[in-house]
Amino acid sequence: MQVFIEKDYSAMSEKAAQIFANEIKQKPDLVLGLATGSTPIGTYKELIRMHKEEGLDFSKVVSFNLDEYYGLAPDNPQSYNYFMFENLFNHINIKKENVHIPNGLVSDVETYCKQYDEEIEKYGGIDVQLLGIGVNGHIGFNEPAEELILGTHLTDLTEDTIKANSRFFDSPEQVPTKAITLGIGSIMKAKKILLLASGKNKAEVMAKILNRDVVTTKIPASLLKLHPDTTIIMDEEAASLSSNK
Ligand code: GLP
Repeated sequence: MQVFIEKDYSAMSEKAAQIFANEIKQKPDLVLGLATGSTPIGTYKELIRMHKEEGLDFSKVVSFNLDEYYGLAPDNPQSYNYFMFENLFNHINIKKENVHIPNGLVSDVETYCKQYDEEIEKYGGIDVQLLGIGVNGHIGFNEPAEELILGTHLTDLTEDTIKANSRFFDSPEQVPTKAITLGIGSIMKAKKILLLASGKNKAEVMAKILNRDVVTTKIPASLLKLHPDTTIIMDEEAASLSSNK
């Protein structure tokens, strides 16, 4: 596992965007695994800048998003679908037919989730998976638990996550209680994983992951230590409690 500590949010975002840009230049039909949340916004901004100013070409890139709230329509401004178009897709030349985001309105979720994993496989798997991290160590919406589900699935959100994500809603009651997420196995199948962590509120969970040589399903992100090509990029605040970097 490689760990980079950058001065601040913008340095972290630039570093991440640079890694993506290099991968896209080497493989123009790269299959990207993309994440939402506040953490990747700076990376997306930098990728948009690279597209506009330096001609970074997304015309052959394929993307699969990690997760989506269950029950929200794609055009709901709180949906991850809406987020992705607002913060990235509307500003680059990715083809709409190459964009995949779980649909929060499907009724036969089980079949749908199976098909989502199959679709990823059809493209040869995810080349680079971008991840943020929840304050409780979740990745995607794989919440801390005794057991983690491998494939894409419908999951219940924990109270911690509902509270943390309520900042994007008018009240905690409006936060959906379920989500569709890539499972831990689907994430681990990615060839390369890039986890970003920024800010003081991520320092504790990053220390729990990095300060001890263990993995636990109670901190799903700790399992990334078992992946052969995981890179963590943190800013100094997120790294402030980590000793074993
Ligand atoms: C959500 C998403 C995660 C994301 C996490 C952290 O719960 N499902 O994919 O990593 O939030 O969000 P933020 O980057 O806003 O701290």
